[in-house]
Amino acid sequence: MNGCLKKKYYFSRCHVTINAMNPNRALWEKGDFTKIAQSMRESGEALVRSIGVARGQKVLDLGCGDGTTAIPEAALGADVLGVDIAQNLVDAGNRRAEEMGILNCRFQHGDATDLNELNEHTFDLTVSIFGAMFAPKPFDVAREMVRVTKPGGRIVMGNWIPGDPTLVAQILKTCAAYSPPPPEGFVSPMMWGIDANVVERFGVSGVAAENISCVRDTYVFQFDGTPSEFVDAFLTFYGPTMNALEAATNSGRAAELRRELEELFTSQNTSDDPGLTSIPATFLRVTVSP
Ligand SMILES: C[S@@+](CC[C@H](N)C(=O)[O-])C[C@H]1O[C@@H](n2cnc3c(N)ncnc32)[C@H](O)[C@@H]1O
Repeated sequence: MNGCLKKKYYFSRCHVTINAMNPNRALWEKGDFTKIAQSMRESGEALVRSIGVARGQKVLDLGCGDGTTAIPEAALGADVLGVDIAQNLVDAGNRRAEEMGILNCRFQHGDATDLNELNEHTFDLTVSIFGAMFAPKPFDVAREMVRVTKPGGRIVMGNWIPGDPTLVAQILKTCAAYSPPPPEGFVSPMMWGIDANVVERFGVSGVAAENISCVRDTYVFQFDGTPSEFVDAFLTFYGPTMNALEAATNSGRAAELRRELEELFTSQNTSDDPGLTSIPATFLRVTVSP
């Protein structure tokens, strides 16, 4: 019994230590984002096709997860490096590339706020779809993306938009309502979804406003299951929702959180097939020419 308690205590101490070291990393290593990423593959491929990736280009996919966009970039012939702060997702990306026999795509650990392992002016294209927006210190992130991209190259970001009525902005808003207030000085990732912030952040890194475009675009989540099962996947595998569920459980509001999410997912589902869920979500598509 004592041993058991000690183990539990030891585990919880370790957990707290890891979180204290880098909460950004701990959030994304929590759960298993690959289970959500499976619902993002089709739109990821379509987005990559629309970016105009060319054979032989050197591409950095930043905040790559398990390669939803990195692998399609490699399939188009680019030489792709995926960088992500979550080691479990880096490993999952390397496994996927190997299983698919893709040799021109590799994944490594790194932090978008400090890409010191990458030389300046290395990449023709830096892509970050719902990735770098989640890193803290947005001005550092913009500086690093500009630094590693070749002059005359391009940076393409996909960012969720604050206050938008569609899926992801609403999930994150709901999660925030059930979670403790963030630490002082915390800058919401959603601020990357406001045009003026994008222009300011890249502007400080020397990019002129006329070399930055921000347009609204749509990403469709396709889940093999009902809206309620999709909610379960978020509550079980997606760090921000898992944290909200933990907080809601502690305050006796878990059922309320689940009900709110089920209403959201059900009302936004456009699938005619009762066994499938299809939910379009609006995002800000940013293209920067440094
Ligand atoms: C919503 S997921 C998107 C993953 C992938 N781009 C996709 O479209 O499936 C956010 C990703 O950003 C990564 N991320 C968060 N903060 C990061 C940071 N500081 N540096 C690098 N990656 C980061 C997370 O680990 C996670 O893989």
